[in-house]
Amino acid sequence: MKKPIHIIFLGPPGCGKGTQAQKLINEFGFVQLSTGDMLRAAINSGSKIGKHAKSAIDKGNLVSDDIVIGIVRDRIFNAECAGGYMLDGFPRTLAQADKLDQILSEHHQKIDVVIRLCVPDDLVLRRIAGRRFHLASGRSYNIEFNPPLIEGKDDITGEQLVQREDDNEEIVQSRLNTYHEQTEPLVRFYEEKGILTAIDGTRDPEEIYSKIKQTLNQVPA
Ligand code: AP5
Repeated sequence: MKKPIHIIFLGPPGCGKGTQAQKLINEFGFVQLSTGDMLRAAINSGSKIGKHAKSAIDKGNLVSDDIVIGIVRDRIFNAECAGGYMLDGFPRTLAQADKLDQILSEHHQKIDVVIRLCVPDDLVLRRIAGRRFHLASGRSYNIEFNPPLIEGKDDITGEQLVQREDDNEEIVQSRLNTYHEQTEPLVRFYEEKGILTAIDGTRDPEEIYSKIKQTLNQVPA
């Protein structure tokens, strides 16, 4: 795999961005920058940013562009990202995408590839309804598609699995609406730049992963 490579994962909630990013971490040690994870960390820390983020996330709305751009900018040029990174859940608005281009060009960087995972809304709802987490490790399961060995328990520690607070049906519907209204326009934005590859996200995770690797291998050096 050529490095450094700068990747965006684009797609609706529950399309498998996190699942596929984890596979690339395991195989290649890529750095994942998930704005959702960063915002949840800010919420857990009780910071001012966290309080603002919580009120948006609890409604299935987007957190303000300024906050999200700020937290990405704080990480993206760190030494940990010198070998490349995967942006998971960012950008999510045209304003974020424009700003990203601007800050990257100031550092003579650019996004190499945007991987769009296509999954229809009805499957998103099923996947998110079934998703469970082991909080301490971040391990993710799905009661329908990737169940733990013992119902409700983490395979390694046996500890209780939990649902994310914003994974209830009403909030997921709102996250989907937000995706279609504010994030889907990015498909055209990146298609016009010639860097978007669309992959059928309804397939088996390993099949999707192999398509992603093929795509990354075709990225010009
Ligand atoms: P975020 O945490 O980014 O959530 P999301 O985009 O809604 O994505 P998810 O984490 O829910 O899903 P995923 O695509 O990673 O799917 P996963 O791999 O887990 O954002 C949360 C909130 O933060 C947002 O709503 C917003 O408020 C805020 N926010 C974040 N970024 C922001 C930004 N840039 N600007 C403003 N606000 C921002 O898979 C889902 C399930 O399906 C799992 O159970 C998995 O096991 C299963 N699964 C995955 N792939 C497959 C497969 N191929 N077959 C069967 N099952 C599968």
